[in-house]
Amino acid sequence: MGVLFYNPAMAFTLRSYEPHDFAALHKLDQACFPAGISYSKTTLRYFLTLASADCVVAVEGIHVAGFVLSEENPPLAHIITLDVDERQRRNGVGTALLQRLESNLSARGVRSVLLETAIDNEAAVAFWQRHGYRIEATLKRYYLGRLDAYEMRKLLLPPASKTDKRPGEKN
Ligand SMILES: CC(C)(COP(=O)(O)OP(=O)(O)OC[C@H]1O[C@@H](n2cnc3c(N)ncnc32)[C@H](O)[C@@H]1OP(=O)(O)O)[C@@H](O)C(=O)NCCC(=O)NCCS
Repeated sequence: MGVLFYNPAMAFTLRSYEPHDFAALHKLDQACFPAGISYSKTTLRYFLTLASADCVVAVEGIHVAGFVLSEENPPLAHIITLDVDERQRRNGVGTALLQRLESNLSARGVRSVLLETAIDNEAAVAFWQRHGYRIEATLKRYYLGRLDAYEMRKLLLPPASKTDKRPGEKN
């Protein structure tokens, strides 16, 4: 069951990936990244079918507005991609997807999340930094043998335990 998010511009639901989403996710990834950086159907299907994969999808009605895909080996996880439909950017979809993914990962013992992003992808670098990801290294010629990438990392806190109490808090 999904959770509905409202903002003045759009309402969307987050849910787990379902196999019938595949064509829409592939189309969105092709639209989000240049040829050679976007994933082929074979590669995208490979990642989605990993036992260690998590994929959260944002849907507006029947339309896929975005998705985030990761793989994990707790305490480490790697974000494979985060894609938001160009028409629906700056509406909090990427943020909602990332927060849900981080919450899922944290609950499964992930404490460190790594990703790569092209250094000329200013929107993405700003987005990741806004969400606490820090540049750890520059990977020379990481994409297409010529485009540099930043390796970025965020450390996740363990989920708050139900028994954790703030000072003065009763039950
Ligand atoms: C990066 C991306 C996922 C952001 O998704 P989004 O839904 O637009 O992000 P949000 O609306 O949640 O933005 C949250 C914050 O990130 C930052 N941000 C997002 N896009 C930005 C941009 N174009 N320029 C500067 N800052 C930006 C802002 O701080 C923004 O907060 P604000 O809107 O209150 O200023 C989206 O631009 C995208 O899909 N890009 C193409 C694919 C890609 O590059 N993916 C990431 C690399 S794997």
